[in-house]
Amino acid sequence: MEIGAGVLTTLAATPLSTAMREGAWLYPIVEIVHIAGFAVLVGSVVLFDLRVLGFARNLPVAELGRHLLRWALASLILVIPAGLLLFSAHPVELADNRVFQLKLVLIALAGLNALAFHLLPYRSVAGWDRNYAAPPLARFGAVLSILLWLGVISCGRMLAYV
Ligand code: HEM
Repeated sequence: MEIGAGVLTTLAATPLSTAMREGAWLYPIVEIVHIAGFAVLVGSVVLFDLRVLGFARNLPVAELGRHLLRWALASLILVIPAGLLLFSAHPVELADNRVFQLKLVLIALAGLNALAFHLLPYRSVAGWDRNYAAPPLARFGAVLSILLWLGVISCGRMLAYV
């Protein structure tokens, strides 16, 4: 605990962290990058999830997945560094903030859910690629994914108020 708190205090005193807190433009610019990134991330994941749930059944799931999920992964190049920079502005307070902690847990659960989806129901996608209902496990994963990402967005937005 002591070591962790020391690292966070040191981080808060770095020139970058100070600039994030005190510069008029830096924080909002980084926040815009964060938002643009997660709009692509959550947008593409949710559109894929809706296809798995049965919307636009004539579109092949595997091809749609190759297109959308590639963009979801690419968006992390914006979302994660921007998130870490936003964190660096107030590391001590945020590390202690229950909503921020919950947000990180939900991000981890959303990642695990995506991994489980690929390792389990997605392996048989050839059998339900077009014009078939996805198996119940795939549909369950899609609903869970939408709920988890909604939770991440809610926690992110709530951070401004708690
Ligand atoms: C992975 C998907 C992520 C999503 C969907 C997400 C979502 C959000 C949302 C909706 C906001 C509020 C934006 C606003 O109020 O204008 C936000 C802000 C923020 N996010 Fe993320 N975020 C993600 C990842 C991360 C990561 C990995 C970190 C850091 C480790 C992080 C740290 C922050 C911080 C510190 C804020 C600023 C809160 C504030 O200024 O009030 N985020 N995020």
